[in-house]
Amino acid sequence: MMFQTEMLQFSTGALLLLLPWFGDLVLGEVSKDFSNCLDFFYQNTPPKGVRETGYQPICQRYKNQYHFASLYNRQHRAPLYSAYLLSPADGKRPNATWMYEPQLVFSRASSEMKPFNKSVDQNVIENQAVPQDYKNSSYSKGHLNPSMHQKTKENREATFTLTNIVPQRPSFNSGPWSLLETKVLRRFKDYCKGTMYVITGAMPYESGARWINNRVSVPEYMWSAYCCPSYNTSLPESVQPFFPTYAAVGRNDRNSGQEIVPVNVKAKKSVRGYDVRQMSLETLEVILSQRLAMPISLFHGQCQ
Ligand SMILES: *[C@@H]1O[C@H](CO)[C@@H](O)[C@H](O)[C@H]1NC(C)=O
Ligand SMILES: *[C@@H]1O[C@H](CO)[C@@H](O)[C@H](O)[C@H]1NC(C)=O
Ligand SMILES: *[C@@H]1O[C@H](CO)[C@@H](O)[C@H](O)[C@H]1NC(C)=O
Ligand SMILES: *[C@@H]1O[C@H](CO)[C@@H](O)[C@H](O)[C@H]1NC(C)=O
Repeated sequence: MMFQTEMLQFSTGALLLLLPWFGDLVLGEVSKDFSNCLDFFYQNTPPKGVRETGYQPICQRYKNQYHFASLYNRQHRAPLYSAYLLSPADGKRPNATWMYEPQLVFSRASSEMKPFNKSVDQNVIENQAVPQDYKNSSYSKGHLNPSMHQKTKENREATFTLTNIVPQRPSFNSGPWSLLETKVLRRFKDYCKGTMYVITGAMPYESGARWINNRVSVPEYMWSAYCCPSYNTSLPESVQPFFPTYAAVGRNDRNSGQEIVPVNVKAKKSVRGYDVRQMSLETLEVILSQRLAMPISLFHGQCQ
């Protein structure tokens, strides 16, 4: 009896040891999880509560290096979120060379993002958004991980993959949402003493989904949250609510209802209806749980 149990334990152990290797062999480079890029998540823990079917984790690899992580929704041809470490840019926004993700087409393809060619492969078109989808759409290409939150030129270039992009109203993209990105960057520079983990995502329409080119899902709202576990402990009172975590939701549709983000009717006409509401991490998680019907927890242990 004793002997059999030991044998069983031994063979189970051996099998478990072999599995990762076997898994790689079968699946090539396609990632079933974020195991190659867990560094981009607080305590190496991706958000919990996302139902996994239909989502493809992408470790965003460019020039032989991982730069951030995205969870891609194949049906939407758009990311649900991108997760990254904030690091102020040491230069300008790069010239955009838009890229695609070969892994989404063939599971054994290169794990590096690639620039779009003049003639785009039909298999790429079927699997993901392409620059043509945005032409004439009245939406701009909105970064989840914005290039100006990324330090090196390569880091910034890597954000120009369409798997990091959702259709965003131009006035919202260059207006209130861009302002939020600047505020978060400011808080990082002024008070964050270590790593700032950011997760930024899309919130699709609850009903009456919208698409550009009948292919790419348009978010009704965008959301963002950060976790800075190590910060200046003598914060001015006005800044205290913003640490260690804070979050925001922004209106990507000026005609949306006002339950989630109220409209400031006194705002300049060009940006009216594209308000951003800052809120606690907990409030954002309640909204996400309701709207995505998934009990999402973004940062392990609420980043405490
Ligand atoms: C972008 O490209 C233009 C023309 O190709 C060039 O003049 C400019 O310097 C480039 N900018 C950057 C930031 O690389
Ligand atoms: C771009 O061109 C390269 C080399 O010709 C080819 O391997 C790749 O599949 C092309 N990509 C697309 C999206 O067509
Ligand atoms: C772009 O939109 C305009 C106005 O809606 C339309 O007349 C034109 O045909 C569209 N062009 C393409 C390439 O879809
Ligand atoms: C913390 O913030 C206060 C108030 O802004 C500032 O005076 C102080 O120098 C900061 N301390 C550190 C260690 O950065």
